[in-house]
Amino acid sequence: VNAQQPIGIFDSGIGGLTVANTLLEQLPNENIVYFADYLHFPYGDKSAESIQHYSSRIAEFLLEQNCKCIIIACNSASSAAYETVQAVASDVLVVNVIDPVIYHIQNHLLHLQDIGIIGTRRTIESQAHKKSLEVALPKIKVHDLATPLLAPMIEEGIVDDHISKAIINRYLKDSQLEEIEAIVLACTHYPLIKADVEDFYNNKVNVIDIPSVMAAYIRHLLEKNNLLNSGNEGKDHFYASKWNNTFPETSKLFFNKEFEWEEVDIFSKD
Ligand code: DGL
Repeated sequence: VNAQQPIGIFDSGIGGLTVANTLLEQLPNENIVYFADYLHFPYGDKSAESIQHYSSRIAEFLLEQNCKCIIIACNSASSAAYETVQAVASDVLVVNVIDPVIYHIQNHLLHLQDIGIIGTRRTIESQAHKKSLEVALPKIKVHDLATPLLAPMIEEGIVDDHISKAIINRYLKDSQLEEIEAIVLACTHYPLIKADVEDFYNNKVNVIDIPSVMAAYIRHLLEKNNLLNSGNEGKDHFYASKWNNTFPETSKLFFNKEFEWEEVDIFSKD
């Protein structure tokens, strides 16, 4: 494994592009290989076993693309398949999107007592954030809520209008989320609704999203392992297991640069 190899990133759809975007902004010498498993979107309503199966295939594909590390840019897959991906990709670094958030809270928000977590059903049912937070900060009270309509809504590009705001507000009004001081947007699609969530709370609640904590974490990890690229010589690649004609338009909401999608069949052996 060497520093010139690309970083592999995957999600069920284009949500993980929020992570890829911030990563490339902050580490412009890196190249990425992005994989969107749109054939199986959404992961949030699938069983842990199904997500483990999809994730191991994707990890194999990213290894074939010579990736030096794999970022599971999806909370649903991070909570269901982190160990699976680690087992498949045992020679490279594997990063999930849950540990960096816990680490961030532990380092910067130690005083927190009441924290909200919203994400897909798979993420919330796994209690991955809750369990880790309760270990890291024994006094914390975790208020978690599954918000299953949000990822498909955002994937469809339905953001920043009265319909999306009504759905977001309906979820945030839930009594489970009363009296929180901070909220984790535990889905990589949710950075696109961060402003709506901040508005709902009149900016009085600290809204923590995944991309903002990931880039610093990855930089540190690559540095520590002598894998930080010093010169960008390659090209980024964006693959999807199924083409969706909304991709070109919706990708623009998630990613600042223009790019081409390539459809690739990695599941037909199944
Ligand atoms: N972006 C995925 C996550 O972070 C959720 C989307 C889905 O349900 O597939 O959990």
